[in-house]
Amino acid sequence: MFSFKSLALLALCALPAARAATFEVVVGGANGLKYNPESVTAQPGDLVRFIFQQKNHTVTQSTFAAPCAKFNGGFDSGFVPVAEAQTEFPVAEFSVTSTDPVWIYCAQGTHCSAGGMVFAINPGDRFAAFKAAATGAAAPSGTSTTAGTPSATTTGTGTASAPSSTATKDIKVIVGGPGALTFNPSNVQANIGDNIIFEFHQKNHAVVKSTFEAPCVPMASGFDSGFFPVADDATTFPTYSVRVNDTRPVWAYCPQGNHCGQGMVFSVNAVEGGDRSFQAFQDLAKQINGTAGGATGGGYGNSGFQPTISSASAVVAGLFALAALL
Ligand SMILES: *[C@@H]1O[C@H](CO)[C@@H](O)[C@H](O)[C@H]1NC(C)=O
Ligand SMILES: *[C@@H]1O[C@H](CO)[C@@H](O)[C@H](O)[C@H]1NC(C)=O
Repeated sequence: MFSFKSLALLALCALPAARAATFEVVVGGANGLKYNPESVTAQPGDLVRFIFQQKNHTVTQSTFAAPCAKFNGGFDSGFVPVAEAQTEFPVAEFSVTSTDPVWIYCAQGTHCSAGGMVFAINPGDRFAAFKAAATGAAAPSGTSTTAGTPSATTTGTGTASAPSSTATKDIKVIVGGPGALTFNPSNVQANIGDNIIFEFHQKNHAVVKSTFEAPCVPMASGFDSGFFPVADDATTFPTYSVRVNDTRPVWAYCPQGNHCGQGMVFSVNAVEGGDRSFQAFQDLAKQINGTAGGATGGGYGNSGFQPTISSASAVVAGLFALAALL
C-alpha cells in the first residue's frame, strides 16, 4: 500500500511536466524573520513553493516602491500561523508567468518594516535596494510603483485565485443525528483560516483526525474532539471547531464503536474523482473494517501510518495557489 501510494504520488508530481524548476522558500521558522532564500531567479513556468514554518507570517505581494505595503490586486497568502510543535508545514505556491520582478513581504506586524522580511522573484540587482527601502522607511502609503517596475503587469496575468484576505468562513457539519452515522456534509472545501464547526447530534460521536492510509486510526497530534453524548430529546447541540490551516486534504473519522468501519468518515478538501477522493477514503474505511488499522471499540491505537509531508507537491493551480500535499 505504502509503496504503491508513493508511486502514485510520484506519478502525480510528474504531471506538471512543463515546469522547468521548482524553488523552495522557507518562511520563518528557525531562520527568524526571513524568507530563505531571500530571492530567486526564475523562468516562466517555474514554481516557487513557500513553506510556512513557525510563527505567523504571510507571503504578500508589494511593489519595489513600497516594499511593506500590499499591492492591490496582488496575491496574498493571508496569515498562516504555525505552532511551535508543528512538524507539517502549510505550503503556498506561486507560478511564475514572466521574468518580471515580483516583490514580496511579510504583512505581520513590523516584520517587513523593522525586520526586513522581504523576498523577490527576479529582482535583478535591485534586491538590496528593495530590502533597504523596506527597513529604511515606513511604507509610503499610496505611492505608485517606480516607473518601469513591471510587477503590476505580472499580476495581471494568470488566474486570479489569490485568497487575498477574504473573510474566513465557518462551515457547519452535522455529526450523527437520529439513525445517521454520517458527517453531513461529508467532504467540504475550505480555505486557510476557515473554521469547521462540528455540531454533534444524537447518539455519541466524536471527530478525530486520521490519515488517508489509515482512515480509522488517530493521527499523532491530530485534533480529537472527544465524545459528545447527545440525548434523543436534545434540542441544543454541542459543537467543536477545527481551524483549517492549509489546503491539503484533512481526513477524519468517528472513533465510536465501529462507526468508522461503517463509513462514518469526513474530509476537507479531498479532490473528487481522484484516487484520494472522499469516496476512496470512505471505501478504504469500510474495507479495513475490523482489520488491523481499523479502530475497534473506540480504541485509540498508535499504529497509525504517519505520512511525512514530502516536499513534492501534487497540486498546482492558478497564478497563486495553496498547495495540497499528499
Ligand atoms: C496571526 O496573525 C494575525 C495578524 O496579526 C492575527 O490576527 C492572528 O490572530 C494570528 N494568529 C495566531 C494563531 O496567532
Ligand atoms: C490547525 O492548527 C491548530 C493549532 O495547531 C490545531 O488545533 C488544528 O487541529 C489544526 N487543524 C487541522 C485541520 O488539523
